[in-house]
Amino acid sequence: MAFSQLSLSFVFATFLLLQSQGEAATCSDCFTHSRAAHYPNSDEHGTETGRCGFGTFGATINGGDVSAASDLYRDGVGCGACYQVRCTNSNYCSDKGVTVVVTDHGSSDRTDFILSRRAFGRMAQTTNAAASLLDLGVVDIEYRRVACSYPSKNITFKIDENSNYPNYLAFVIWYQQGIKDITAVQLCETQNLVCKLLDRSYGAVWTTTSPPSGPLSIRMLFSGDDGDETWFISVNNIPEDWKPGNTYDSGVQVN
Ligand SMILES: *[C@@H]1O[C@H](CO)[C@@H](O)[C@H](O)[C@H]1NC(C)=O
Repeated sequence: MAFSQLSLSFVFATFLLLQSQGEAATCSDCFTHSRAAHYPNSDEHGTETGRCGFGTFGATINGGDVSAASDLYRDGVGCGACYQVRCTNSNYCSDKGVTVVVTDHGSSDRTDFILSRRAFGRMAQTTNAAASLLDLGVVDIEYRRVACSYPSKNITFKIDENSNYPNYLAFVIWYQQGIKDITAVQLCETQNLVCKLLDRSYGAVWTTTSPPSGPLSIRMLFSGDDGDETWFISVNNIPEDWKPGNTYDSGVQVN
């Protein structure tokens, strides 16, 4: 008797578990409730000093609609991810909210996002409402992950200024469209196709000591929420004489 009760409750618990997983799977468009703050006065737009390591790109990306993320930063995997964020106070807030790109790591008072002041204001219905919102400092929000979009841009590799040719190569990946994460990167010799797995040193910065020589192609592993994993390979090579500070167009884009 005790045994059958136990197994019955086990079956029921399993049923509930499966049911909630099913709901989660069909709810990719759902919003999550949270809170958002904004950067201090000085940081109207994006920032060159965000923890993702985007550098100058971080200051201008997405028109300055950027954000620091707390848990969603995910040790740098979340860098470059896009989120639709809308505040929930119907007196001030629009339905659409704002789409931001994660460029930094940080949290405030129980927030998931610290938006640039520009992005924070763009959640409002009007300019006046934007001023009121900014005065509040921290607001209740809903957010969901959305695809990033960079019309007429290919994925681009920016060689980090701290690179030291030819011994140390560090670069950041710019303009990644879509809703997937880059979870691994390989650097491949184009002559004999030997590839080397790179390290994520921090944020969106990939590095290796003693990189292969000759023209190099880059392979990127795109991972989706659903467990889908796909390698993409750059069409254009990084030239043999790559230079710190230079950007190189990969010739590919994802959606
Ligand atoms: C993107 O790459 C393709 C080649 O793969 C090239 O034809 C196109 O001009 C590139 N786009 C931009 C905006 O550079």
